[in-house]
Amino acid sequence: MRILLDTANLDNIRYFNTYYPIEGVTTNPTILAKEGGDVVKQLSDIRRIIGEDKELHIQVTETKFEDIIREAEALVRTFGKNTYVKIPVTDTGLRVTKYLADRGYGVTVTAVLTAAQGMLASNAGATYVAPYISRSENLCADGIGTVADIAAIFKTAGTKTQILAASFKTAKEVLDVAVAGCHSATIGSSIMRMLISHTTTDTSILGFERDWKSAFGDTTLLKLLEK
Ligand code: G3P
Repeated sequence: MRILLDTANLDNIRYFNTYYPIEGVTTNPTILAKEGGDVVKQLSDIRRIIGEDKELHIQVTETKFEDIIREAEALVRTFGKNTYVKIPVTDTGLRVTKYLADRGYGVTVTAVLTAAQGMLASNAGATYVAPYISRSENLCADGIGTVADIAAIFKTAGTKTQILAASFKTAKEVLDVAVAGCHSATIGSSIMRMLISHTTTDTSILGFERDWKSAFGDTTLLKLLEK
């Protein structure tokens, strides 16, 4: 499953883009509000850090059809190829999705809570649908099951729309959506760290270092190879 970073924090984006195999960055108005300041500069900095080939998903804030279209066109004009316009799943959102998809724009339909919404978004031509996992599970609904249902619906329909799951509170949820047939997931920095961290990994590495040192002292394998 492909992984994207769900943040607008430049330090985190710089770090994870350097060390982790991420496919891009997703933002929404709440995420951008958290960083504050000059939003256009912030998004330009994100684009500069990840480069033009990775995905940058930016959510529209306009609510009227014509205004959303203008905003979407301006977003892609400003932030270049591989910019995906995030549209909340509303009546107007579906109309905008169809309009933009017909004209070759990448559209991520977001705030998806049910498989029915995901199906409609796909039928409108969405590139991605973004089901919210923890927001669903917090309401005692089955967020993981929703992903599984959407995956099954897309498979039956042979649609090109992909699932980009979002809103995670645990690393287990990330693995669960992968097993449920999710194509991509966007996750925050702390969950990203949880995906790799394990105390037994740390103690294993310490053991390798200790055993090497006790047998070979300060020399390293590289030093021996380059002798
Ligand atoms: O990308 C959407 C996602 O950021 C929502 O996540 O954690 O606010 O539920 P959250």
